[in-house]
Amino acid sequence: MQRSVFIKTFGCQMNAVDSARMLSLLSSADYRAAATLEEADLVLLNTCSIREKAEQKIYSDLGTLRRWKQRRPGRLVGVGGCLAQQDGEALRARAPHVDIVFGTHNIANLPGMVRRAERRLTATALGMEDGVAHWDVVPYLPAGAVSAMVAIMQGCDNFCAYCVVPLVRGREVSRPSEDILSEVRALAARGVTEVVLLGQNVNSYGKKEGEIPFPELLLRISAIERISRIRFITSHPRDLDDRTIRLFEEISTLCPHVHLPLQSGSDRVLAAMGRGYTRGEYLARIEALRQVRPDMAFSSDFIVGFPGETEDDFRETLAVMEDIRFDSSFSFRFSSRPGTRAAEMNEKVDPQEAAARLRRLQELQASHTRERLAAQVGREVTVLVEGTSARDPGMRCGRTPCNKTVNFTPGSVGGPVRTVLVTGAGTHSLVGEERPSHA
Ligand code: SAH
Ligand code: SF4
Ligand code: F3S
Repeated sequence: MQRSVFIKTFGCQMNAVDSARMLSLLSSADYRAAATLEEADLVLLNTCSIREKAEQKIYSDLGTLRRWKQRRPGRLVGVGGCLAQQDGEALRARAPHVDIVFGTHNIANLPGMVRRAERRLTATALGMEDGVAHWDVVPYLPAGAVSAMVAIMQGCDNFCAYCVVPLVRGREVSRPSEDILSEVRALAARGVTEVVLLGQNVNSYGKKEGEIPFPELLLRISAIERISRIRFITSHPRDLDDRTIRLFEEISTLCPHVHLPLQSGSDRVLAAMGRGYTRGEYLARIEALRQVRPDMAFSSDFIVGFPGETEDDFRETLAVMEDIRFDSSFSFRFSSRPGTRAAEMNEKVDPQEAAARLRRLQELQASHTRERLAAQVGREVTVLVEGTSARDPGMRCGRTPCNKTVNFTPGSVGGPVRTVLVTGAGTHSLVGEERPSHA
């Protein structure tokens, strides 16, 4: 009898793509996707260890899964991804009911491990030396998907002082450009309109391997028919070069939104983080992008309460935010991660003080987000339709090239890309009405 798997994904888009690969691999091994945890025979947690909170949530889920497993004989639990890589066998000591533990480089082994677990044997694969064997596994794509993520690299060589990614994802490796291009062509043939290229530092794509550089990769992808939107995450402020910036002028399908994590506005803190740029250099990158595309949208990541961060350092972060006025940002309280340099740093910031700084930063961001959304009112934008609006089933929902969510009343046009007049702005999204298309 066919069995079913429920995959729960934590963390970033890299994990989302890996989960889609796990699903493809397991469907060839006679597992179908379960709609709910309750109906599943196998549950896989694809985990994240970027901050302590992520880790706690996963261990708490594992506690719940012990009872889930006991409720029906034959049920299996597998844990993969970054926390599995980080904790390895120690994870099993904390959660002995886990049948399968697999690391970030061991996804291709999953069907074999599941077979072992079905015979009531535990399975573990944590080796990182074998390169990325799962790159050829085509990620599962839901029927009717208009947007797809494409991993172009894996791992990271930057070793920012706070970050666990290089430890759990390994050194940076770029995927052969020919493989990326054929994946994008296949997606286009299946009706996908938008591709999002993924890597921890996309601007260093191919450098180690002597592959074509990132701008050339963008040019080749832009030549693929039917792909009318190209995005990429994440850019590193140190490595985002002028050639890539100019492409925003040359490639009409390159979306005018750049996610450029600043982390802190203080040069002292940036140096302690080992980020490799100053506030001035960061501002110069933003300026260069605005020169090329005045309508460019910017988003960022921030860490507050990094060891040694003073009130003055923090105010410098707020000042840069006031200057740039990001469209959106993700912000986090510093979390000490095992094996990182920052974990060894003294001068920890008082957790309550860090929490207060985070609130101040998020309030400022909320006001900038509202302001940037309000600036869209009265404009006509193109929207790639992703589905029905959550708040009103009569409305459609999608994103603008600048990555803003729009809920709109559909007209009679149809098709994946619509022209919409923005009639209102909220705290996180826009509302609008469809216009007859000019296209
Ligand atoms: N490669 C991307 C980021 C990956 S992690 C980059 O370089 O920007 C996503 C975000 O999580 C980071 O940008 C950072 O803001 C945050 N983050 C990473 N480690 C963290 C830690 N130890 N504590 C708090 N936030 C952290
Ligand atoms: Fe982590 Fe820095 Fe690499 Fe981003 S660039 S994944 S923050 S080490
Ligand atoms: Fe988390 Fe791993 Fe991504 S630690 S943020 S899932 S690379």
